[in-house]
Amino acid sequence: KYKAIIFDLDGVICHTDQYHYQAWKALTERLHIPFDETINNRLRGVSRMQSLNIILEKSKKQYTALEKEAFAEGKNKIYRNLLAGMTPDDLSDEVRKTLKALKSKGLKLAIGSSSKNTPIILHQIGLGDFFDAVSDGNNITNSKPDPEVFLKASAMLKLAPQECLVVEDAVVGIEAASRGGFFSAAIGDAQTCKSATYVLHHFGDLLNI
Ligand code: BG6
Ligand code: MG
Repeated sequence: KYKAIIFDLDGVICHTDQYHYQAWKALTERLHIPFDETINNRLRGVSRMQSLNIILEKSKKQYTALEKEAFAEGKNKIYRNLLAGMTPDDLSDEVRKTLKALKSKGLKLAIGSSSKNTPIILHQIGLGDFFDAVSDGNNITNSKPDPEVFLKASAMLKLAPQECLVVEDAVVGIEAASRGGFFSAAIGDAQTCKSATYVLHHFGDLLNI
């Protein structure tokens, strides 16, 4: 019934969400700001700067725009170093096999991610040329829950939102999908989302819906 699937990247295709966590953790320790899994889950799907602003809600100090830019850049440096160590082995067999099977069914496959590091990550895990369209943090002005990133992906595929299924691990990602008129499948942290069309316990469950 769907002609395409648009995948979020971090936390869906690969586990870069752990690296985001580690990189933010390093910054929050330096600034003596509390940071835990609950705060981390609020960073899923939102842009780098918005993530920083969420983290700084717990700070007693006010920072200037310039200081914030330096923090975001510092976090990205740590994050990039972690990404540099990624290889095609960081793509699980389950994800690799499922992606291949979905493609051979004739479905168009795309990425819809808020991350500006998307091209680097796809290259590192050996999926640089795999997707039919890549919409990411480099071509949007509003990050999830705004549907822009998914609407751009469906436009690249020349399909209507109603013809696409969005796969997301972020609550704001599922919200973005429904706002844009897409069907959605929630995995991981987003599994509790009431508005998701489907809940996936495993990535491979995509072959059954
Ligand atoms: C999303 C992550 O995919 O990308 C967010 O879920 C992250 O946690 C966002 O903040 C932006 O990433 P980047 O790589 O542009 O800093
Ligand atoms: Mg995600």
